[in-house]
Amino acid sequence: MQTEKLFDRIDSIRFNNVTKKYGSRFAVQDLDLEIKGGELLILIGPSGSGKTTTLRMINRMIEQDSGNVAINDLDTKDLDPVRLRRNMGYVIQNIGLFPHMTIGDNIGLVPKLEGWDKEKIEERVRHLLDFVSLQPDMFIDRYPRQLSGGQQQRVGLARAMAMDPPLLLMDEPFGALDPILRKQLQKEFLKVKKEIGKTIVFVTHDIEEALVLGDRIAIMDQAKLVQVGTPEELIFNPVNEMVAHIVDTDRKFKHMDTLKVKDLMSAFREEYILDASMNACAAADEMTRNNIENAFVFREGELLGQLSMMDLMKCKEESRNISELAKPLKTFKPLDSVAFALSEMKQSGEHLALIMESSKPVGVLVSDEVLLKLI
Ligand SMILES: Nc1ncnc2c1ncn2[C@@H]1O[C@H](COP(=O)(O)OP(=O)(O)OP(=O)(O)O)[C@@H](O)[C@H]1O
Ligand SMILES: [Mg+2]
Repeated sequence: MQTEKLFDRIDSIRFNNVTKKYGSRFAVQDLDLEIKGGELLILIGPSGSGKTTTLRMINRMIEQDSGNVAINDLDTKDLDPVRLRRNMGYVIQNIGLFPHMTIGDNIGLVPKLEGWDKEKIEERVRHLLDFVSLQPDMFIDRYPRQLSGGQQQRVGLARAMAMDPPLLLMDEPFGALDPILRKQLQKEFLKVKKEIGKTIVFVTHDIEEALVLGDRIAIMDQAKLVQVGTPEELIFNPVNEMVAHIVDTDRKFKHMDTLKVKDLMSAFREEYILDASMNACAAADEMTRNNIENAFVFREGELLGQLSMMDLMKCKEESRNISELAKPLKTFKPLDSVAFALSEMKQSGEHLALIMESSKPVGVLVSDEVLLKLI
């Protein structure tokens, strides 16, 4: 039985005034939240605040009492729940692999139910094992008990991705792992996240994990959404004490006042410089050759702006001069405070700044990286 694809990609998931009660207690109350296509949204909050309930209302493992959940403007109530679930991946803590089935059969289960032929399933399983850094030949015929917790967690992720769903729901996927392994998997997952470009809703208890992985973070407390925003927004503009306490800005970022840009910038490389006389095509070639995503356009030693590979790829006329394409960016000095630089960047919505000393570039400040280094 082949399940029809419901969506090739996610444009949005909307909770409209959603409430779920158990008896007289609210599990989730009046939730309005929009998850944007392509983002990794974190749900975080104290135990019992409604995170899992929120997540499970997306795939209808839990049905709300009132309000509605819409994916790409389709009300999930109008969709068949099984079909809905087959169109998204679901990863939980202690992932629940079937113990009597090999790793290969665990990952290939849904493709098999979907009627794929053997070769196609094996090809897919091998690709996925490789993707989660497990050597296919070594793992495909093993049983779950022959794998470490971290390896099993990787298999859980591979299984959730078997049908290449555009949406992944993850409920404390790394929650049961020891802290060091957790850090390692987070790092790997960050890489995965960049590569796969899926929409991901991710529940965690761990604010460090949230700050590292999340594009945006939704904070829940006592069945209510308290605040949703980027890590920077929550850190710099918490709506109340509770949010401030969760992101723990005082403790974790206390040293930020004393930190200088030079402590957290990445070294500047000569390859980052592109001459303003180049055309878009030549610039793209050069950036590809140097394996860089961002560059800075200079004319006779004067900074004109920044250029990303994305901008070049979007550019229709390849003969256009890059001096026209360069976008403005902020510059700071090595001794400027990091807090100042980050808040300036946040205001203009820029993630990249150039660090200049005596009119010469000496470093690059990347806002996400700064947060990563700080926690
Ligand atoms: N099947 C159920 N029957 C009764 N109450 C429930 C049920 N499922 C959840 N609840 C209650 O609903 C509230 C929200 O639960 P939920 O599982 O969404 O919390 P959570 O934020 O995921 O917590 P945790 O961090 O502990 O996983 C809690 O008070 C919980 O006790
Ligand atoms: Mg939960």
